[in-house]
Amino acid sequence: KIFAHISAIGGYVPENKRTNSDLEKITDTSDEWIVKRTGIKERRILEEGLATSDMAVSAIQNLIDTYKKDIKDVDALIVATSTPDMLMPATANIVCEKLGIENVWAFDMNAACSGFLYALDMGASLIESRRYKNVLIIGADKISAYVDIKDRSTNILFGDGAGVVWLEPTNEEGILDALLQSNGAGKEFLNIKGGGSLYPASSQLLVDEKRYIRQDGKIVFKNAIQSMSDTCVNVLKRNDFSVKDVNWLVPHQANKRIIDAVGNEINIEEGKTLINIENYGNTIAATIPLCIWENTSKLKKGDLLMLTAFGAGFSWGASLLRW
Ligand code: ACO
Repeated sequence: KIFAHISAIGGYVPENKRTNSDLEKITDTSDEWIVKRTGIKERRILEEGLATSDMAVSAIQNLIDTYKKDIKDVDALIVATSTPDMLMPATANIVCEKLGIENVWAFDMNAACSGFLYALDMGASLIESRRYKNVLIIGADKISAYVDIKDRSTNILFGDGAGVVWLEPTNEEGILDALLQSNGAGKEFLNIKGGGSLYPASSQLLVDEKRYIRQDGKIVFKNAIQSMSDTCVNVLKRNDFSVKDVNWLVPHQANKRIIDAVGNEINIEEGKTLINIENYGNTIAATIPLCIWENTSKLKKGDLLMLTAFGAGFSWGASLLRW
């Protein structure tokens, strides 16, 4: 059997920080409340005039510089994002153009905060099909473009960033399995309504009202814990692993309390969960690759990683891979 494995990883976050004290000046909130309820201290915000593709390209450049890869070898490229540069063409096409590569099978994957896991599974399938050998999977979102800075239920949570992994075939174990699921009834509880074909951007009234990310935080919170915990348990079970076999849990970074609750539900040992939410908040499709990227020095070849995410849709899932 051929496996896909991660042969290189890169990341990028903008320089500009939005701290809790910045938010205290804009809305009725406090550093103490935000840290206690979310674990977040600051987020990175991409400057105006730059877009999701720019962060994706910077993350890929970081990967190339670190691992001395040749971008010309890439034959497929997927950008997981819900904040594309434009509705058309795909951000993946724009990324390829900026990287100077042509003839790549390039497309976007929109599964919100679960996007990286969905795209990773797609990329692994492309490699297992033996039709592709070098696949870039990018999670990138400029969610700040959709955050209502006056809405304290969302402005505290989100930040911008991008992460990327390079997949290649191997005869050893690599990406082992992914259990990915969705439930469209969740569309009521977490969405950005404006700008699509239902509420086109051409109608200024609708854009102003509907351009922002909105959510029912409590419903999202409960569903996130339940769904991530269930798929972690189920993906372990169907691969005959126990939670003790997992070396590292890499959860989507949405809220530190969600991460802790999932850890408790599945009974993971303390110290095995990778967390960087404090510095970046929720970067949507970028959280998981960014978190792995920042922790690569801790990972040993052969370590079993369990990745898990939950987001708009609702969409969610859990993946298992050998580092
Ligand atoms: N600062 C200060 N006080 C606040 C704030 C704030 N930013 N927001 C709410 N409050 C107040 C409320 O008004 C309320 O006051 P009251 O008790 O006087 O009525 C009190 O704090 C508690 O509010 P809750 O809404 O119950 O706070 P909760 O503990 O649910 O935290 C939060 C809110 C952080 C949004 C939480 O529900 C959450 O993280 N939900 C998940 C949402 C999420 O992660 N979405 C991202 C996309 S999906 C994903 O990535 C998984």
